[in-house]
Amino acid sequence: MAQQLSVLGAGTMGAGIAQVAAQAGWSVVLADRDETTARAGRDRIEAALERLLEKGRLRAAEAEAVRARISVAAAPADHAGSDLLLEAAPEDMATKIAILRAVVPILPAHAIIATNTSSLPVGEIGRAIGEPARTVGMHFFNPAPIMRLVEVIAGPETAPEVVERTAQIATAWGKIVARATDTPGFIVNQVARPWYLEAFRVLEDGLLGASEIDRVMRDACGFRMGPLELTDLIGQDVNAATTRSVWERLGRPDLLAPAPLQEALVCAGDLGRKTGRGVYDTGQDPPAETITVTPRPVVLAPEDAAIIDRFAVRAARDVAAARDLTLAARVTIARVLGALFLQAMRTQAAGVATADDIDRAMIHGVNHPRGPFEWIAAVGTACVHDTLQTLARAVGPRFAAQVAPAGPAAPDPELLRKALRAFRTRLKLKRLDDESRLNSRNPLSGGTRSAVVAIMAPREFPPAVWEALAREGKLRSHGGGFYELLP
Ligand SMILES: NC(=O)c1ccc[n+]([C@@H]2O[C@H](COP(=O)([O-])OP(=O)(O)OC[C@H]3O[C@@H](n4cnc5c(N)ncnc54)[C@H](O)[C@@H]3O)[C@@H](O)[C@H]2O)c1
Repeated sequence: MAQQLSVLGAGTMGAGIAQVAAQAGWSVVLADRDETTARAGRDRIEAALERLLEKGRLRAAEAEAVRARISVAAAPADHAGSDLLLEAAPEDMATKIAILRAVVPILPAHAIIATNTSSLPVGEIGRAIGEPARTVGMHFFNPAPIMRLVEVIAGPETAPEVVERTAQIATAWGKIVARATDTPGFIVNQVARPWYLEAFRVLEDGLLGASEIDRVMRDACGFRMGPLELTDLIGQDVNAATTRSVWERLGRPDLLAPAPLQEALVCAGDLGRKTGRGVYDTGQDPPAETITVTPRPVVLAPEDAAIIDRFAVRAARDVAAARDLTLAARVTIARVLGALFLQAMRTQAAGVATADDIDRAMIHGVNHPRGPFEWIAAVGTACVHDTLQTLARAVGPRFAAQVAPAGPAAPDPELLRKALRAFRTRLKLKRLDDESRLNSRNPLSGGTRSAVVAIMAPREFPPAVWEALAREGKLRSHGGGFYELLP
């Protein structure tokens, strides 16, 4: 039977996602603050279908069928038949909660409630609307009809079955899914941060000019765009705001600290393409650099230079690309890719996502030529760790790895005891919270016992710790990072 999607917020993302679902055969009900705005969203979809028709990517009969599947909501009751509700309203917690509260009571019991938020905690949205188990993150990338990645985010209380069904729906819509836990920036916006930031720091240090940094990243490493030109495209304000939010919420790690040079661009109103001036003056052809750096010579001990050379040559896309690199270019590659790899390792070690999901997310969410883990394997884990140690000594402590090199090292028994204690406390709190909610719904019940069995393992301990506790028979895995306490 045909399935139905309701979209709340028919703006850039909402309209794009509605188009994706309708092209995949779903009926779509579009809603916005009023019918006129929702109709404007539908008009934009029709214009996009028209362009596909002109380019011969869609046949007339198909385009007509897609159009016929999209309707505009006249009243909340129009969402009553939806299997999936997706909100794509402005990035503001109060707005999202208010619009979801108005529609959720109308939905059928099996319906999934998804949010396209880029930065708000999915679990908090789910709890605020009283539906934490069926609320999930479904994070599309812009433009949604073109970008293939969807990050599927499990809040701490999202039911594993809801996560599974959401991933299946995204796959059926032709998307590539990466699963992640409910952390700041999820995968892409967390892992990509130091790739932009370290490029700004290389510029600040006077190692290379902006166009040289971008050229090295494109020509030697295979990125479609360099990190600095990409920040101009995204908007310096948007890119810097994401950095500040992820940095603050992750406890201000050095590697993700805002770059003073980028902050200065934002203060000056040089926001990139949208203002005609950012890292580059886009009014000129080719765009001219706006930031003049005082070139400083690279000073490295010969043994450090040898380590960085090895990394850069192995990380470059081919021998020809690596051959003519100057020392400054090699250090740039080591710093920018080293920072990216380190953040990928930290994200994986924190249990946000698996190496495979992180690789998929970076390739399909931001068009990186390779996933970081595939790249680390190509360079060699030992070479990556030697390089990070060298950079920590020669450039700054932000590169200090603090991530165990890959290998099946058994977790420390004291760490296992601490993790088990943290798990018990969290389970107790979750049950108390659940019981108080059950009892508040039914004050005459005289005390209802919580049925919570499995909970998400606390994220301050790496997945290896929970796997070791499961092997020892202390916990049972329910998949997706959920565990049950065994007697
Ligand atoms: N634009 C991106 O690149 C991008 C990428 C991924 C995720 N997101 C996320 O997607 C969400 C939407 O972003 P966008 O760029 O599409 O924004 P947008 O401003 O283009 O669209 C938001 C829509 O919500 C509507 N709206 C506002 N108040 C409403 C209300 N009370 N009820 C119903 N609709 C209301 C607006 O009229 C507008 O049509 C945000 O959470 C954003 O963080 C954006």
